[in-house]
Amino acid sequence: MKTHNYIESVGETFVIIISISIAMLLIVTAAMIYFVIRYSRKRNPNPAYIEGNNFLEALWTVIPTALVMVMFYYGWTGFKIMREVPPNAMTIKVTARKWVWFYEYENGRPGYTLKVPVGKPIKLLLKSLDVIHSYYIPAFYIKEDAVPGRENYLWFQADKLGVYDVMCAEYCGLQHSRMLSKIEVVSQEEFDKFYASPIPPELLGEQLVKGKGGCLSCHSIDGSPLVGPSFKGVFGRKSIVVTDGKEREVTVNEDYIKRSMIDPNSDVVMGFPPNVMVSQKGILTDSEIQIIIEYLKGIK
Ligand code: CUA
Repeated sequence: MKTHNYIESVGETFVIIISISIAMLLIVTAAMIYFVIRYSRKRNPNPAYIEGNNFLEALWTVIPTALVMVMFYYGWTGFKIMREVPPNAMTIKVTARKWVWFYEYENGRPGYTLKVPVGKPIKLLLKSLDVIHSYYIPAFYIKEDAVPGRENYLWFQADKLGVYDVMCAEYCGLQHSRMLSKIEVVSQEEFDKFYASPIPPELLGEQLVKGKGGCLSCHSIDGSPLVGPSFKGVFGRKSIVVTDGKEREVTVNEDYIKRSMIDPNSDVVMGFPPNVMVSQKGILTDSEIQIIIEYLKGIK
């Protein structure tokens, strides 16, 4: 009866609740049909006066209470497994923002897909930088909201190798449906190798641009203009900008990019509205800004 596996526990609870529901449906429907026929007006022209039946009243109080308690018992034991993280769990931070999930391992390694070792409990700490998102792993039967201003958690343990989908299960705006991620479950050896390997610099840049910086919500990397100009081929490009109400031509260089991140309204590219972008001051550090600049140089 007692299971310690979350997935099994959810499956068991589901089967019990659906069985009780189907049994109730059949019993109530059968009784209803029987009563309609047996006690029709045709058969019983004179109604009987009934004052109540203590035995029946006790019965229809006790049986449903017992059934609800059974459902509660299974729900509660499953819930306890879901909330009690094993002490040997590996903790990974998950941050949500419109419209991406990004991860940070205990050793600072970033990523926007998750790689985890098989058979190891994983605790995810969920945060959101903007609106409410919901981290949902259908294959693991688990879902938890990422709420701005607070930290939620969930945990799971994958016992089979494979790649599993992650979705956002809380409508969070235009590209909600594209807020996907993957969990890759690999062997412990493969994970150890990955975990100790150096972090590729492009990954750091992409991570910042997609994740912490949030740049890609408004700037594309494929040349299409979104809310802001595209990053494609941005470095070295000549742009007409509006500075203090006057148009001038600038060449996009390191200084220009830095200024645009810290003081976005100083030189606004022609054709784009001012006062849209929020300053990255206090969000990105100087070295992170430098990583982003290097990343932007590579987008041709
Ligand atoms: Cu994030 Cu929906």
